Amino acid sequence: MSTSTRIYQLYGADFKRNPHPTYAAMRKEHPVIRQPGLFETFHIWFVTRYADVHAVLADNETFVLDARMAFDPSDPRLDMLVDSRPVMQLVNNNLLNKDGEDHRRLRSLVQSAFTPRMVAQLRPAIQAIADELLDQIVDDGQADLIEAFAFPLPIIVILEMLGIPHNDRNQLRIWSDAFVTPDPSPGAEQQFLQAMTDFTDYLRDLFARRRAEPRNDLVTALLQAEEEGRRLSEQELFSMVVLLIVAGHETTVGLIGNTVLTLLLHPDQLEAVRCDPSLTPTAIEEILRYEGPVERTITRFVTKDVTLADQRLGRGDLVIAVVGSANRDSAQFPDADRFDIARNPQRHLGFGQGVHYCLGAPLARLEGEIAINTLLRRLPGLRLAADVQRLEWRTQPLFCGLVALPVAWDVAR
Ligand code: HEM
Repeated sequence: MSTSTRIYQLYGADFKRNPHPTYAAMRKEHPVIRQPGLFETFHIWFVTRYADVHAVLADNETFVLDARMAFDPSDPRLDMLVDSRPVMQLVNNNLLNKDGEDHRRLRSLVQSAFTPRMVAQLRPAIQAIADELLDQIVDDGQADLIEAFAFPLPIIVILEMLGIPHNDRNQLRIWSDAFVTPDPSPGAEQQFLQAMTDFTDYLRDLFARRRAEPRNDLVTALLQAEEEGRRLSEQELFSMVVLLIVAGHETTVGLIGNTVLTLLLHPDQLEAVRCDPSLTPTAIEEILRYEGPVERTITRFVTKDVTLADQRLGRGDLVIAVVGSANRDSAQFPDADRFDIARNPQRHLGFGQGVHYCLGAPLARLEGEIAINTLLRRLPGLRLAADVQRLEWRTQPLFCGLVALPVAWDVAR
């Protein structure tokens, strides 16, 4: 089957500019539909209604992340799904690719650093980073907000938590982007493997330094867990740090960018938030529903035959839950296409659902709140400095976020 047999085009720049009409049609006509994925090697079930997305994410026994749970060991498809090359084993053995006991063990190693109580202690440090970043641009009157603010803020925070020098953030961003950007074009695979090799070489050096000189940071804590044996293998150690770097910033960049853009497009709600910063947390929740930075979850594999919205899914099938569509389902959210900061959409799926519910949710919420309130306080007259139709959106299938967000503001002369 080729791309021409895709009923819905779910990839590429045109689709990403506004995926919502396509998802609305899918929810109506084909709420659970199987069609070729990006690489066309596999067909994937796309699930778009709230109730079905919720059901998939909540049932972590039928819908698993480790393909080996859903295929017989001799199945040739397994070789394509589980990359056994050593460097890929170093980056892919993370908790978002694990189920059951392995997942619980890995998550429990880092959970305590990300609880709302622990994260709340970071407030002054995050505020200081936000202010420092704005100090650098406040007199310019214009900037690309993604480059100058939305990207550096969350990556500095997660690198500080891990104990990785944040001056290396631009290089880490290149490797992180490579990690999350599937590229089927010729020659891309070699480049990708090189990026992952460089990324893991960098981490190997860092681990050696932290072993020699332990510090009060997450990397040191993870190294100690690895040395104790059984709790964390070498592959899991590397993969955990890669995942925390990637998940710790790729998404929050989108949260900040999408919130600023959406507020600028809804001036009355922007004004309400500017006048009363205590409204920002619910505005952030509404963004996570209305234009959340994660559009689709990681691919799940079906462990046993199951029926979903009258479709029969079989063992070994691939499933993607489209949370960005579920969050616009009017069966769950009245007038779902309307952005409304008074909505307080408690049950949105922007952070996922079930055992893989976002570990970093409290951190992302705090970063989002500080980012928006600091921007609105320090950049008076904040406005879009580009035609909204011309804004470029990232094409990574998983994410919903801007490549750049040109803005301007008033500068006191
Ligand atoms: C607004 C920002 C964020 C959004 C929208 C978001 C969204 C998500 C979603 C939807 C999942 C579940 C994926 C799935 O089930 O396939 C997830 C998992 C995860 N997120 Fe986030 N995330 C954000 C920020 C963060 C941050 C700041 C961190 C920091 C460490 C983080 C770390 C993780 C981790 C480690 C997992 C895997 C959890 C598990 O498998 O148990 N995320 N996130």
